Amino acid sequence: MPLEAYDDCWLRYDRADENRQASYRTCVNVYASVGAPELGAVREELRRGISGLLGREPHLWQHPPRSADGFLAVGTPEEMEVVSDAVSVDTVQSLGDGGFHIRSAEWEGADVVVVTAPTDRGLVYGTFHLLRRMSLGRSIDDLDIVEEPANAERIVDHWDNPYRRSVERGYAGQSLFDWERLPDLRERYFDYARLLASVGINGVVVNNVNTRIPARESANEFVSRNAGWRLLERDGLEKTAALASVFRRYGIRTYLSVNFAAPMLIGDLDTADPLDDAVEEWWARKAEGVYDAVPDFGGFLVKADSEGQPGPYDYDRSHAEGANVLARALEPHGGRVWWRAFVYSDHDDRAVQAYEAFEPIDGAFHENVTLQIKNGPIDFQPREPASTLFGAMPATNLSCELQITQEYTGQGVHCCCLVPQWKEILEFDTGDGTPLKEVIADSAGEGIVGVVGVGKDPNWTGHYLSQANLYGYGRLAWNPDLDTETITDEWARQTFDDDATETISGVLLDSWDAVVDYETGGLGLMHMMYNGSARLENHYDPSPHEWPGYHGATEEEIGVDRTTTGSGYAAQYPDPVAETYEDPETCPEELLLFFHSLPWEYELDETTVVQRLYDNCFDGVDAVRDLRARWHSLEGVIDEQRYRHVAERFDEQVVQSRRWRDTLVSFFYDHSGIPDEQGRVPRP
Ligand code: GCU
Repeated sequence: MPLEAYDDCWLRYDRADENRQASYRTCVNVYASVGAPELGAVREELRRGISGLLGREPHLWQHPPRSADGFLAVGTPEEMEVVSDAVSVDTVQSLGDGGFHIRSAEWEGADVVVVTAPTDRGLVYGTFHLLRRMSLGRSIDDLDIVEEPANAERIVDHWDNPYRRSVERGYAGQSLFDWERLPDLRERYFDYARLLASVGINGVVVNNVNTRIPARESANEFVSRNAGWRLLERDGLEKTAALASVFRRYGIRTYLSVNFAAPMLIGDLDTADPLDDAVEEWWARKAEGVYDAVPDFGGFLVKADSEGQPGPYDYDRSHAEGANVLARALEPHGGRVWWRAFVYSDHDDRAVQAYEAFEPIDGAFHENVTLQIKNGPIDFQPREPASTLFGAMPATNLSCELQITQEYTGQGVHCCCLVPQWKEILEFDTGDGTPLKEVIADSAGEGIVGVVGVGKDPNWTGHYLSQANLYGYGRLAWNPDLDTETITDEWARQTFDDDATETISGVLLDSWDAVVDYETGGLGLMHMMYNGSARLENHYDPSPHEWPGYHGATEEEIGVDRTTTGSGYAAQYPDPVAETYEDPETCPEELLLFFHSLPWEYELDETTVVQRLYDNCFDGVDAVRDLRARWHSLEGVIDEQRYRHVAERFDEQVVQSRRWRDTLVSFFYDHSGIPDEQGRVPRP
């Protein structure tokens, strides 16, 4: 029994069928270059992968082997003659960081498969790509594959609270990182790095953006719930350096969330004013110390002037002035500042605020600053339009922050595959016909960020099916053009058995729509979750009474007017997008009540707003029942443990979705007084 047992996720490498095993025999002999730490990871992965898929350990050579079955060669063209003979060296050299080339060829009479790249990181991705093909049962004959990541930066953000072991919005147990024991390493950190690298992730922020939140422990004692700010101290840097040594082997850079007031918290300054010389000096020295500990450190992530975190507004400075002092400190070392745009205050409509704060300072950020913008203007809701900032800041490096952990979409209980949501966001027209995916991919400092809730639970993500979100996030970050079905199919086939792929992929594909229907009514309403007191946010149970501002329900109307007669949010998009949203006749139905406050009986295609809300809520529950039934068809087809785990959660999801439906439809009825045409909504 291993010390700590946990799931392999999609890196199971189950035995290939006999025909496939025969066709994969080239890979039994591996000639892989040695040297960079990444190459150790490559050899180790091939050993695992080939052993699993073919049932025999591969032979690892340091020279081209003589084998009748041919061989697999992994290395750069400069290092290996077989590689430079088999590929066009120019093609390889022209690839961007992370890109790779896989090619079948004949070399000195032997069949070879070559995995090559201009960088060691590219060799890691190429190796995982080849192993994925084999895990999916695809042919590796006549290969000629060239891939490059669409996004230069593909990052996961942990919201782990060091020293307290907890994970904010994590539904998979305690922090994966054992902060007290670090710098001692655990085997599991390597396996986590493997999972991330296998889907192309190249950066990890190891601690929560809330680096410090004071909480009342007892009547007059306040403690900091999150001590992430301490990671910049010597002891914290030692721990970070240890984690970085693991991630580095897989081509992943390590980042830290830092507190804007660190010069006061850790240093002995009495200000954190970004224009103060002593503050500038403090950050410069601190950056030197960080790079002494972690030479390839990625940079700092900052949540400033947001939900209680300090920031430049404390000194009447702009966000650009705040970000730039950190950028100047990191610049000599090649580091980057990830500055979050999640800023709002007590404005009537929080949707408009990030734009108001950031659009006027487009172009004022240093080149090594990236603005990290949540996908939508509110907060990771089941469905939101894309943030207006993506079309408004052409002179700033931008990234899109997605939430992989399911804070508002059923947490560790509901099945909700978010890949379709992300596709919708990435394809979003930011104004002049340019999709969001292109806005965040046009320079080296841009990319995509996902908030992971990965934790210590044996299945990593709390719900087995939520692993598909981690997988899908990475695949989309690498290639946003992949279609949803390809991703769910790939995940299911590698993670379960072939016989179950179609069913599981289908369940995932239909799961998000169901959640949107029963948690929102499907017309663009949102945030009807229970919040509770400031420190007990739950975001799981229905509670539409709590936040009237988010849905605007009155006896006459439902929805929020965000047009020019209301908060003016729609007009923050460039035309023609703004025009489309301004007019309820052209606004897409699924966002109608996000942009408009309309009479309950406003007419839609063949029905009214209120009736559509009722219908969608009922459809959502029916869809969950159907998903459960489809899952039940897998009994005996997949292993009992995972079957049961998911089946139990579907039982709970059916109950919870009914609760959501009943709460929402009663709420709609209480306000509108209009009965459901089908008589399904109880009338008092
Ligand atoms: C949400 C979430 C918080 C988180 C915040 C953020 O509001 O509920 O837990 O801290 O987003 O993204 O900073």
